[in-house]
Amino acid sequence: MPTPILPRIDDCECTPNVQHLFRRHHLLQSPMYYIRWIYAAFYSLYLLFFMEPPTDRDIVGYIENTTMVMLIRPAADGRLGEYEVTVRDCKLRASGGYKLKNMSLRYKRGKRGVRLLSFTRNGVRMSNRGQIFSTVYFYHTHSFHTKSHLFSNSLVRHIVDNNVKILQESSYTSIPLHYELLHSSLSVLEWDGNVSRYLGYGGACIRESLVEESRNMSALAGHQAMERWKSHGKDSFAGKLLRSRLALQGVMERHEIDPKLLDPLFNHVIVHSLDHDGISQWSFLRFSLHPWDTECSIYQAFNTSMFRILITQPNLNPLAPNTIRSINKPFYQDLYRELRKIDPKMADVVTASVMY
Ligand SMILES: *[C@@H]1O[C@H](CO)[C@@H](O)[C@H](O)[C@H]1NC(C)=O
Ligand SMILES: *[C@@H]1O[C@H](CO)[C@@H](O)[C@H](O)[C@H]1NC(C)=O
Ligand SMILES: *[C@@H]1O[C@H](CO)[C@@H](O)[C@H](O)[C@H]1NC(C)=O
Ligand SMILES: *[C@@H]1O[C@H](CO)[C@@H](O)[C@H](O)[C@H]1NC(C)=O
Ligand SMILES: *[C@@H]1O[C@H](CO)[C@@H](O)[C@H](O)[C@H]1NC(C)=O
Repeated sequence: MPTPILPRIDDCECTPNVQHLFRRHHLLQSPMYYIRWIYAAFYSLYLLFFMEPPTDRDIVGYIENTTMVMLIRPAADGRLGEYEVTVRDCKLRASGGYKLKNMSLRYKRGKRGVRLLSFTRNGVRMSNRGQIFSTVYFYHTHSFHTKSHLFSNSLVRHIVDNNVKILQESSYTSIPLHYELLHSSLSVLEWDGNVSRYLGYGGACIRESLVEESRNMSALAGHQAMERWKSHGKDSFAGKLLRSRLALQGVMERHEIDPKLLDPLFNHVIVHSLDHDGISQWSFLRFSLHPWDTECSIYQAFNTSMFRILITQPNLNPLAPNTIRSINKPFYQDLYRELRKIDPKMADVVTASVMY
């Protein structure tokens, strides 16, 4: 009796059947974080000279070019060109005892570009663009993006337990990565409110609250709402995600892969890496990682940059990148070819598993 693939991030213990994956991760992927740290420190110092505070365009552009796009709805009162993003019942907490319970953003897309009309957080109206961007970033990276990680542990266990050779590359790194995030003192997340960050980086989100928030998958129902995605247009981020899903479905059929794996593979391979690629287009913005900071000092801007380079930008071992492009096997090559037809640059960043 095959076990169903359940969305759960905390199912990441090193059980005997996945020990080889932990060894592989420690050997090939872990050293990258240390090497990358040196690069991140120098690059962040350099970026400090060029960072700009976020504008309305950045806030809306970020939402439209990451998985946050799934939350965009035409304005409830039907005004032409106006859109809303609403989040309710959020469980995320930030250090210092702050809670993000809800947020709501409204913007207008017109002839003269985009304009933010309003933003409220926990029922309070805000206008500080840096804080607004920080709040959206905090919610996206710790709640919405995390949802693309949720099938990975279970999917990897399925591949290992059933010895699904054709998907072997999709088993690498994901479980040990989640284990480090949730259980090690090197995690960028905060452990029960006391800081374990000592490498010059660290986020503002409390680890337990991320796990709690990850239990609510209702926001991802957007995956099924294909009609809504189409409304964004064929070449928008949402449109490309939709076309990638159809491409994956076709390739899976050709290679006789169990169709039950469609949603898990879609998130694990495509959504996760494209979302990171989307985020990394905003590397030059100056804002504090903590959504309740009202200012952004040089030190805070530096911390944000370290977090971005180490955590949200693709962090691969160049000798073993595990991008589908680099895997010389029929299923991955076939998928790579199909994704290239949608967007060649996009196809190059897709990885066979959750690698960072
Ligand atoms: C958002 O949170 C605030 C503070 O907890 C609350 O007063 C308000 O009713 C909430 N709004 C929505 C729409 O849930
Ligand atoms: C830090 O967290 C650990 C683990 O949760 C806890 O045992 C310890 O008491 C905390 N220390 C402080 C100073 O809060
Ligand atoms: C920046 O990061 C350091 C080290 O992780 C941390 O101790 C410090 O509180 C952070 N500073 C700000 C202003 O967030
Ligand atoms: C789950 O999240 C959605 C929005 O993402 C929210 O509307 C819903 O109330 C949440 N459910 C629970 C039980 O928190
Ligand atoms: C983000 O997406 C929108 C709409 O899909 C597009 O017009 C815009 O150019 C994108 N912005 C960036 C910075 O890529």
